Amino acid sequence: MKFDKPATTNPIDQLKVIGKPVDRIDGPLKTTGTAPYAYERHDVAPNAAFGYIVGSAISKGRITSMDQSRAKAAPGVIAIVTAENAGKLGKGEWNTARLLGGPTIEHYHQAIALVIAQTFEEARAAAQLIKVEYARAEGSFDLATARASTEKKTADRNSAIGDFAGAFAKAEVQLDETYSTPDHSHAMMEPFATTAAWNGDKLTVWTSNQMVDWTTNELATTLGIAKDKVHLMSPYVGGGFGAKLFLRADALLAALGARIARRPVKVAMQRPLMANNSTHRPATIQRIRLGANKQGKLTAIGHESWSGNLVGGKPENAVQQTLWLYAGENRLTGTRLAQLDLPEGNAMRAPGEAPGLMALEIAIDEMAERLGMDPLELRVLNDTQVDPANPARRFSERRLIECLRTGAQRFGWAQRSAKPAQRREGRWWIGTGMAAAFRNNQVTKSGARVRLDGRGLVTVETDMTDIGTGSYTIIAQTAAEMMGVPLERVVVRLGDSSFPVSAGSGGQWGGNCSTAGVYAACVKLREAVAQRAGLPADGASFTDGMLRAGGRSVSLAEAAGESGIVVEDTIEFAELSKQYQQSTFGAHFVEVAVDAFTAEVRVRRMLAVCASGRILNPKSARSQVIGAMTMGVGAALMEELAVDKRLGFFVNHDLAGYEVPVHADIPHQEVIFLDETDAISSPMKAKGVGELGICGVGAAVANAIYNATGVRVRDYPVTLDKLI
Ligand code: MOS
Repeated sequence: MKFDKPATTNPIDQLKVIGKPVDRIDGPLKTTGTAPYAYERHDVAPNAAFGYIVGSAISKGRITSMDQSRAKAAPGVIAIVTAENAGKLGKGEWNTARLLGGPTIEHYHQAIALVIAQTFEEARAAAQLIKVEYARAEGSFDLATARASTEKKTADRNSAIGDFAGAFAKAEVQLDETYSTPDHSHAMMEPFATTAAWNGDKLTVWTSNQMVDWTTNELATTLGIAKDKVHLMSPYVGGGFGAKLFLRADALLAALGARIARRPVKVAMQRPLMANNSTHRPATIQRIRLGANKQGKLTAIGHESWSGNLVGGKPENAVQQTLWLYAGENRLTGTRLAQLDLPEGNAMRAPGEAPGLMALEIAIDEMAERLGMDPLELRVLNDTQVDPANPARRFSERRLIECLRTGAQRFGWAQRSAKPAQRREGRWWIGTGMAAAFRNNQVTKSGARVRLDGRGLVTVETDMTDIGTGSYTIIAQTAAEMMGVPLERVVVRLGDSSFPVSAGSGGQWGGNCSTAGVYAACVKLREAVAQRAGLPADGASFTDGMLRAGGRSVSLAEAAGESGIVVEDTIEFAELSKQYQQSTFGAHFVEVAVDAFTAEVRVRRMLAVCASGRILNPKSARSQVIGAMTMGVGAALMEELAVDKRLGFFVNHDLAGYEVPVHADIPHQEVIFLDETDAISSPMKAKGVGELGICGVGAAVANAIYNATGVRVRDYPVTLDKLI
């Protein structure tokens, strides 16, 4: 189905199942610990051997020798995979660094060997016996230093509108400040994990991955085999946050190991390897210049961001939201990329906007103070309903102002003192802050297969993944709504490369796009059912397991008959996304308490208001947003990969050293969804929301801390040493 015209009224609008806060249908599997994750596929690979990854001990240089003799002689050892015996490996499209290093080393903890043994403990013990000698090369590890080297280079992603420099120089009120955000680790609960088995030249992998089709391709390319020889399954994923968008070392090494060991091999990446072996959200340094007239109209908006990456890697696009969030005739945005020999930087939840808004939304708060304006009113005044770069291009839906106003009322924003350090309760300084939320709404084609059987059961198959987000449930709700059956009559099967290619889970597009694919397949199924029943498809209604048309009715089970009916379709998005700017909007409000003596920060309450199209399931959507708000608090107050700038690695590479919020850090959280449908976005009229929830949170916390204490911190995380 081509989606090239705004959606009109359709069966999804019945809202009998869609839009209801139904429990997750995979909930019982998760809460009873019976959902089979990739490392637990004893059922399909009972004789699997265990792999243990050895990571490079240097960040740059090469291996000069690797003595495996003691490891090979150790108890239980079956084989050791290294670049020497792995065969020629192709270069995939998505990864910058090779997933199996050696002899050249590109980053710390790059995998250099996989030890395979009868048990995990034997593999781990043998791995310690491998003796590696390295020749270390000089590397570049400090963004602040490397930043200087980018100044001479042409900016890779610049956009300029009007005369920024002139308008900024003439502006009645100016702001020119620099902000920084550190490297972040995805730190998801389930590590990278894979069980791999060969049958002749056919490879089967059970893995934990967000994008089944991308990763199947990538694995085939890297191994140099045809894609149709790879069967990849990722039905349950214990969190990804962008780290599992691409093929990772666990899956490649398990496949190589299973080939060399001639039996199935399972690999779960050890937690201490996760931060340096895989990707991370790159640190940024962001310079923001704002010019306004005395009334608060922004006349000049400048946002430049510096980040680093390995050669061939991309910059963190922290200026993305600045292209669209506020009006202003003269604009300059750009990213600069420095070469760093740290592990690879790549996507992490709301790449671009998440760190970008951490800077921009403090800058807006600072500008409001200089103008003597309420920061919320400054945002309202500078709202735009058109793409500032192309005024003919409107937003499909943009209700930022309503988010701001609704949130202000619900949160009690009016009670706030504009002057900082005015409210004291015992030993605590109390303050409130807010920020706008923005995240683009990307759409991408998505396919599904639906089957109606003789019992009237509807089965949906798509390679879409559920990374803890609720995909199983919203897909079941979509099929139930479309076919007029109760939720219990729908079976959803996900995450299998033998199923139609879906949008996958990334960039907050998964919910809207994958359900739109199911919608398309169900439209086809409705037609096929009507035809089988000999009834006109036009004007047919599907309710209570019955098809009714032209005064007659037939049960779905009867229409399907013994043989059942199977159809498949893919939703394809054309044109509309070019004609309209599609984004999601929100507002975050935060109250903090800061200890007057120790500067300890406690978040007291949080409110998010989101305008992001139709909410397919308010319960799972709320879970997404409160999870994102929690992650935003982590980014504001504690998350930071500490860089060893001499040796070039992230020092705090486990969950003891890399701090994320725990329950005690998170207070009352409230989420309000505006009642919105976006007919431009898809036939579901939904949009993404899982990444919107983190966007702006960090700045709202930092602004609240400023309001509480009068101390402006522009360098995240806002730890107590920066407040004293
Ligand atoms: Mo997302 S960072 O595209 O998983």
